[in-house]
Amino acid sequence: MSKQRTNAQSMIHPILAHRWSPRAFDAAKPVEREKLLACLEAARWAPSCFGDEPWRFIVCDRASDEVMWAHMLACLAPKNQEWAINAPVLLLACSGTTFRKNGNSNRWGQYDTGAASISLCLQAESLGLVTHQMGGFDADTARKTFSIPDNFTPMAAMALGYQADANILDEGFRNVETVERTRQPMDKCFFAGGWDNPVSE
Ligand SMILES: Cc1cc2nc3c(=O)[nH]c(=O)nc-3n(C[C@H](O)[C@H](O)[C@H](O)COP(=O)(O)O)c2cc1C
Repeated sequence: MSKQRTNAQSMIHPILAHRWSPRAFDAAKPVEREKLLACLEAARWAPSCFGDEPWRFIVCDRASDEVMWAHMLACLAPKNQEWAINAPVLLLACSGTTFRKNGNSNRWGQYDTGAASISLCLQAESLGLVTHQMGGFDADTARKTFSIPDNFTPMAAMALGYQADANILDEGFRNVETVERTRQPMDKCFFAGGWDNPVSE
């Protein structure tokens, strides 16, 4: 499990408290196949509107397919490539825009895909792995590279692997890596029965 860098206001499950998004990945430590499959299985069991399971994950494991892994890396924003180059597994979460059963528009697809993604992240955390999601990628290039059909939207890339020491990062990334994680206060985002009415602590 990764080092706790969370200053949670209440008691939360250690898996939630420990999950975070590091940038220092150990390039020399591939993800065991059974652990990778367990992460995907966790995503598979996420809830979804009408049970549609609108998520699709493109999985690029450097250990089994270096070429496709390199293609995925190339889709990332240059700033993300700088550190994600050390991640042994890169994934891309895509979200369906229409329901499988009737082709109607599915406005919950992205919500469900986010749920599947965090399930994957938390399973990874429980297995001693770390994850880092990325909105910084070229969706058009990803669509072409991986033949993503029109009724799916590339949502977020993700790095998966084992954490390395922050010292492998350059100074800028290293500083972010070691600073305490923060969140907005509870009363900014959680309302009691009506908008802007803060939940009391
Ligand atoms: C949809 C999404 C997109 C993100 N995009 C990037 C990104 O492009 N580059 C990056 O370094 N981090 C990215 N992050 C990571 C966030 O910055 C990070 O989750 C946030 O700061 C909270 O930190 P934590 O995950 O350690 O709790 C992204 C996270 C999410 C969920």
